[in-house]
Amino acid sequence: LSGWCQRLAQLDRDDPLAAFRDRFVLPEGIVYLDGNSLGALPRATADAVAAVVRAQWGQDLITSWNRHDWIGLPGRVAAALAPLLGAGPHEVAVCDSISVNLFKLLAAALALRPHRHVILAERRNFPTDLYVAQGLQELMGGRVRLRLVDRADELTAALDADTAVLMLTHVDYRTGAVHDMAGLTAAAHAAGALALWDLAHSAGALPLDLRGCAADLAVGCGYKYLNGGPGAPAFLFVAERHLRAARQPIAGWMGHARPFDFVPGYEPARGVARFQAGTPPILSLAALEVGVRLMGEADMRQVRAKSMAMGEAFLALAAERLAGHGFTPACPAEARQRGSQVSLAHPQGYAIMQALIAQGVIGDFRAPDILRFGFAPLYNRYEDVRIAVEALRRVMASGSWADPAFQVRGKVT
Ligand SMILES: Cc1ncc(COP(=O)(O)O)c(C=O)c1O
Repeated sequence: LSGWCQRLAQLDRDDPLAAFRDRFVLPEGIVYLDGNSLGALPRATADAVAAVVRAQWGQDLITSWNRHDWIGLPGRVAAALAPLLGAGPHEVAVCDSISVNLFKLLAAALALRPHRHVILAERRNFPTDLYVAQGLQELMGGRVRLRLVDRADELTAALDADTAVLMLTHVDYRTGAVHDMAGLTAAAHAAGALALWDLAHSAGALPLDLRGCAADLAVGCGYKYLNGGPGAPAFLFVAERHLRAARQPIAGWMGHARPFDFVPGYEPARGVARFQAGTPPILSLAALEVGVRLMGEADMRQVRAKSMAMGEAFLALAAERLAGHGFTPACPAEARQRGSQVSLAHPQGYAIMQALIAQGVIGDFRAPDILRFGFAPLYNRYEDVRIAVEALRRVMASGSWADPAFQVRGKVT
């Protein structure tokens, strides 16, 4: 273990991102490896939100929509986010949740491929993506069918002349496995279909190149690696070449060409603004803006290099220190094929994670048996890997996880 201590300490000393850690509020004595669920609080966020609440809302009231350009805030956050996605600022909108944005984009995709009926996806996809597709299927009657495959290597063969859209999550939420975005987008295009990517576990975690991959559509959230806060607004991407023809079904006034004309007929705004629906959540956007701009300061190649190195260290140390305790790696062995997390499977995973949290190391659990550990290179240290694995070893060696208190499941796991 002392060899590991020295190696990880050296990596922390050499870390080009180390200075970012001070820009976050991190509770004393806690190792936080759950930035893949809820990113940590940037230090600047509280003051930024307080300024909007006190000085703008409090003092300038409704005049703030113009005086402080609240109405332009979604567009400003989208422009700050676009480089992190490899997108143009005119291709990104910040609004709603992933679920709602998926509904808009799947409907838009189906309308762009009017003679095709199938949404192709993976059964292991994050459930909300599948639920939204099922909802559309129900709404559109026999016109749409959700087709699911069980293994990623079945996707290409499943693409056919009836596939309207291939809907995939870039980084699998359970295993962290990364899809080849360029390759699968090209395969979708070769079949005449569109490709829609869920970037929930990608934005702010890996360098992205939506344009270079020729992606058609994408969605992602603001509360994970973008550190936008609980329930932060999500984002969507529509490739420039589709902006003219793509229409969305939630034809709200904020997506109208002239919302303040108050005319009875809907006319979509030009460009990506038509994907807005209702009044933007200014307080949440103010928080998200801080997170996105902070992430924008980092070199994403350094972020990726650090998270890969942290993942490698975690798995190697876990193999050494947790041997015989019943864990099996549930993520790809090769760092390049993983997102910014590692996953271990264990039949008692839920209770073990609760016991670990009681030791001050926060990861999370995904049914049926996955313990997830996410790495947020802006605020995690290499040392956190050692602390986490050693805490897990103590939980297993002491059997503390067997305490009935750790079996009780909260509403949120
Ligand atoms: C891959 C993926 N898609 C979608 C969601 C949920 O999106 P939202 O709650 O913004 O609708 C999550 C949440 O963790 C996710 O991991």
